[in-house]
Amino acid sequence: MPPHKSDPLLPLVLRATRDLTSAKNELRWLRDFVAEPQRNTGNILDNWAARRKLRQLCVERAKGKPLQYIMGTEYFGDLEIACKPGVLIPRQETAASVTHLMERLQKSKLLPEHVKLLDLCTGTGCIPLLASYELVQKYSRKGRLEAVGVDISSRALSLAERNLRRLSQDGTIQIEPPSSSLSFIRADILAEADHNPSDCVSLMTALQLYEETQKSNDPTADRKGGWNILISNPPYISPSAFNRTTTRSVKRYEPKLALVPKDADASQYPGIDPGDIFYPRLLEIARQVDARVVLFEVADLEQAGRVAAMAQQQNIWTVIEVWRDNPSQADDYGGSEQTSVATGIKVLGRGNGRSVFAYRGGAKA
Ligand SMILES: C[S@@+](CC[C@H](N)C(=O)[O-])C[C@H]1O[C@@H](n2cnc3c(N)ncnc32)[C@H](O)[C@@H]1O
Repeated sequence: MPPHKSDPLLPLVLRATRDLTSAKNELRWLRDFVAEPQRNTGNILDNWAARRKLRQLCVERAKGKPLQYIMGTEYFGDLEIACKPGVLIPRQETAASVTHLMERLQKSKLLPEHVKLLDLCTGTGCIPLLASYELVQKYSRKGRLEAVGVDISSRALSLAERNLRRLSQDGTIQIEPPSSSLSFIRADILAEADHNPSDCVSLMTALQLYEETQKSNDPTADRKGGWNILISNPPYISPSAFNRTTTRSVKRYEPKLALVPKDADASQYPGIDPGDIFYPRLLEIARQVDARVVLFEVADLEQAGRVAAMAQQQNIWTVIEVWRDNPSQADDYGGSEQTSVATGIKVLGRGNGRSVFAYRGGAKA
């Protein structure tokens, strides 16, 4: 039977998914979504209003609007993260890297008593939220956890705050100062100094203000030591790759600020691939804040090789690895690791090249 005979709304959703099983699943989720109490009013729609609403959402979906923006959430590991247009939708591959990192760190002896985690380019706040959840709830880690997420976008930061409030209030994550804290702050991580007071402040200024606030909240606390863990999923798509390979739905609905480094910023880094410009800055920040562990998301194996080579040039990392989409799974060839010919660096896991991991110090991660 053609799909529209079984359900007249199915062809609309099928236009976006292009696959019948996904279209059926999405239509079921949308139907459940309109049957729930409305987010703004708490009311349940009557049959007629629910049918009208469902049709309207299916029309939006047919135009390519991501389901996460329509329904307002996406799963990131075990966490349900609120999403809204203007802020990048969290991706499963990012969650897999963060989960793997926390598992590796928990098993290793690398984590100090007071863990300080910095997430640059935080978007919805999904990374520090998941990292806190994994360490505190999943691994019942004792000791102090202090996490900070940084973004240039005020819209992203207000969504990150909302996610923090919602997940704390419903008990999914337990943030209880002073033993654990999670804050979101605004800064331009590419700015090396504060040239113009009307601009977004540089990261170092924002971190200094953060430190002063922490000290005034608790003057007795020992605030020595750097940020042990530095994570970032920065904009990493070059303008030409964005035009050639990014899907129409992503181009049309997700913020370009989150995906492609700005031309003006790229012009400050001559000789570097325009998609790579955040990485030299991130590595420099890692050195400045004395990070012991870094995890940077990348687009593919080629970019991973370039970023790993930049890290090698710093001469401060004990181990540098490239992780694929599913870093904890055995690779496609049946083993658990494989050496990248280009860089002589281990490539772990299964799928596309997804992140570059490095650590320094005596213990083995
Ligand atoms: C690829 S998104 C990552 C969002 C989130 N961490 C995730 O994994 O879903 C990149 C983020 O970087 C932010 N961003 C772009 N340029 C920035 C800059 N110069 N300084 C700080 N954040 C920036 C964007 O607003 C966006 O939220």
